[in-house]
Amino acid sequence: MAEHDVMDKLVSLGKRRGFIYQSSEIYGGTGSVWDYGPLGIELKRNVKESWWSRMVHQRDDVEGVDASILMHPRVWEASGHVEGFTDPLVECKSCKLRFREDQLASSECGRKPSMSPGEHGECDLGEARLFNLMFRTFMGPVESEGSVVYLRPETAQGSYVNFLNVQTSSRQKIPFGIAQIGKAFRNEITPGNFIFRTREFEQAEMQFFVEPGTDEEWFDRWLEERQVWHRSLGVKGENLRLHEHGSDELAHYAKKAVDIQYHFPFGWKELEGVHNRTDFDLRRHEEYSGKRLEYIDSGGGKRFVPYVVETAVGVDRTVLMLLADAYREEEVEGESRVVLGFHPRMAPVKAAVFPLVKKDGLPELAHGIVEGLRAAAVPAFYDEAGSIGRRYRRQDEAGTPWCVTVDGQTSEDGTVTIRDRDSLEQTRVESSRVLDWIRDQLEGTG
Ligand code: GAP
Repeated sequence: MAEHDVMDKLVSLGKRRGFIYQSSEIYGGTGSVWDYGPLGIELKRNVKESWWSRMVHQRDDVEGVDASILMHPRVWEASGHVEGFTDPLVECKSCKLRFREDQLASSECGRKPSMSPGEHGECDLGEARLFNLMFRTFMGPVESEGSVVYLRPETAQGSYVNFLNVQTSSRQKIPFGIAQIGKAFRNEITPGNFIFRTREFEQAEMQFFVEPGTDEEWFDRWLEERQVWHRSLGVKGENLRLHEHGSDELAHYAKKAVDIQYHFPFGWKELEGVHNRTDFDLRRHEEYSGKRLEYIDSGGGKRFVPYVVETAVGVDRTVLMLLADAYREEEVEGESRVVLGFHPRMAPVKAAVFPLVKKDGLPELAHGIVEGLRAAAVPAFYDEAGSIGRRYRRQDEAGTPWCVTVDGQTSEDGTVTIRDRDSLEQTRVESSRVLDWIRDQLEGTG
């Protein structure tokens, strides 16, 4: 399948099945922001819960926070974002479109689709100017320079300014981390590729504070740990790789940075960044706030400003990775089907329950199974509309791993069939054991 075909198919399936819609669609849409629908939000929540579970709940050295999006404007001066969070913007005088100079493959700009080559003429790029990616707004009723605030472009700073609060209230000792999931905003010059690069997005970031001198060792440990997590989401191993930043790519705060890249339908692209931020951020906040952000080791009597190893993944990019990795079209039993082959733990709905026919008490039995699953917090879906084949296809497209069918035999011996989305195998299970069977499968899926 051609690359653009896959993306078009994901956008169209996303809308049709309720994963992702264009924002404010009835008004013609808003550029580069997207809304998650009923299935999409479940997929996204599964990504976030998996991250939080592994990064916070399964460790004793990482604490969570949820900092505000609007912060003191000095935060962004200290962090370097006011001065340096810029991209070079160029405008083509012929078609008036704007581009990131460093992303133009050649001197050829794309012209407006409505323009013919003759109409566009020579691509005529003006001088590049630096464009700050932060969204500015005003706090309070007066729109003056004194009330300027920014929508945060990364969640990390909310963790740095709370470093001492978290350390003292949780009585953590170095090394320890602060994890956070939340929205970030960037006025990207060239957003695109569906939810890959948007102007409003969600990050899952963790700042790990370490003693200087141990930062390189912790960097390697976190880089390994983060790859383990990505693989645990069930994506194909060959679609993940590492890319270390050269000196020309390093962000202003980083001593070392390695991207975990995914092979998206439009090429290898960054999914997550692991950064050695040294003591840059804490020292700058000391300087700009006038407050000391030193760690005092009560045991050894050492005092130091910690170094930070950061892991920063985009939640929306992870969702796009899961959709792209899971999408397949195939022929089964003489019919073509579209499948989202999600890892069962990531699947928005775990089980769909169908009565084979809408009579003989089968709908009531099927409803009973759905209610039992829901009561145990297993997302389940009831469907009695259309042929059984159509109902299977609808669930294949939604990525539901198991379909439970209640049939004539159920009233006789209390068993139902469970059909596996990928192997198509049908297993007969006692209806009272459906919940345990699904739990066993979920636990056994790695
Ligand atoms: N605190 C460090 C930081 O923000 P980053 O590499 O700029 O580092 C981290 O961003 C991750 O956030 C990226 O790897 C990507 O997954 C996601 N991300 C960044 N900009 C994005 C955008 N415009 N749209 C969607 N996701 C984005």
